[in-house]
Amino acid sequence: MDKKALASKRHFENTRVYLDKDFDIQIRCELIAEQLKFAQELELLDLGCGNGALSLQFQAQAKKLTLVDITENMLVEAKKNVIKDHQHKISFIQSDIDSFNSEDKFDVVICSGILAHVPSVNSAIQKIHSCLKPNGLCFVQITDSDQFLSKINSIYNYFLDVVFKNFRYKKNIFTLQEILGKFEEQQFQFKDKTQYSLVLPLMKSIFSNQTLYRYSKYVLAHRFLSNHGSDFMLTFRKK
Ligand SMILES: C[S@@+](CC[C@H](N)C(=O)[O-])C[C@H]1O[C@@H](n2cnc3c(N)ncnc32)[C@H](O)[C@@H]1O
Repeated sequence: MDKKALASKRHFENTRVYLDKDFDIQIRCELIAEQLKFAQELELLDLGCGNGALSLQFQAQAKKLTLVDITENMLVEAKKNVIKDHQHKISFIQSDIDSFNSEDKFDVVICSGILAHVPSVNSAIQKIHSCLKPNGLCFVQITDSDQFLSKINSIYNYFLDVVFKNFRYKKNIFTLQEILGKFEEQQFQFKDKTQYSLVLPLMKSIFSNQTLYRYSKYVLAHRFLSNHGSDFMLTFRKK
């Protein structure tokens, strides 16, 4: 397995690093659900599924769900979210995105919060393309390094690393414009984007999950605030 993929797997094996406060996952679920109102009879692929919340919210309506993650413990968490009546149409695959191959093609691919962790962003985008049916939809969640808040957060994280001599796992950093360009090069048509997440340094440590969720909803409802958010949910269609 690639070194970067292995580092990512180690990082997420402790699922708490990501799942302890799940307000942001709830927001991502809602952003996708707003766009995918007609999930009936769709075949969905969730690449880097984490706890599976984003795709499993459609388990009643979808025809088939395939959830892929490199981290065994994340898949354990995802399996807890399956409702017995729907388990026959849900498969879980432990794989890194580059090694994942499927003969089946999907109507929808969800690729949320994973481009920051993969060995190659270009290969990941090619993989999404190869897994989609013609005209298939793809949801991609990213952090835009060009946003002022992203710069503040990275300075804060760097400061923490230096002070605590804690040279933590490093993510891939990119701008929204770079990602839009890469998807366009790979024959995707841009459909939609929602900017969100105005979580300042220390807020996650200070406030409860519920407060952070309410605050994030407030930010989303006020364009002036959300226009300063660090994150984007993007929708593309395969050409
Ligand atoms: C930030 S979490 C996002 C989880 C979920 N998609 C969400 O938005 O809530 C990133 C997930 O990608 C998985 N992951 C990281 N690198 C991966 C890779 N190379 N291939 C497959 N999954 C990977 C991690 O195990 C983790 O569950």
